[in-house]
Amino acid sequence: MIPVCQLADLPAGESVRLDTTPPIAVFNADGELYAIDDTCTHQDASLSDGWLEGCLVECPLHAASFDLRTGAPTCLPARRPVRTHPVTVEDGTVYVHLTAEEGTAA
Ligand code: FES
Repeated sequence: MIPVCQLADLPAGESVRLDTTPPIAVFNADGELYAIDDTCTHQDASLSDGWLEGCLVECPLHAASFDLRTGAPTCLPARRPVRTHPVTVEDGTVYVHLTAEEGTAA
């Protein structure tokens, strides 16, 4: 379980990038929190720098879009999904849950 930030520091429409291995992006999409692998599956772009619209994030490099709920790409040029990760809030702190196989804190 990796602490991300205070919930108050992640308002709706914002994202934060974790320097884990691999990097994780956490989004507040209209009050719902989602975590996905930060690196686009098309090339090497950071999805936390992308544009958030509803539950979709658009890659800043070539405009592929990913569904934050499933990690699935919704348009080309990305063809492979990004991994999603559980997010919880405890006592006002946002946490991402990674399995040992998924990654480690930096
Ligand atoms: S790097 Fe994300 S769409 Fe190309």
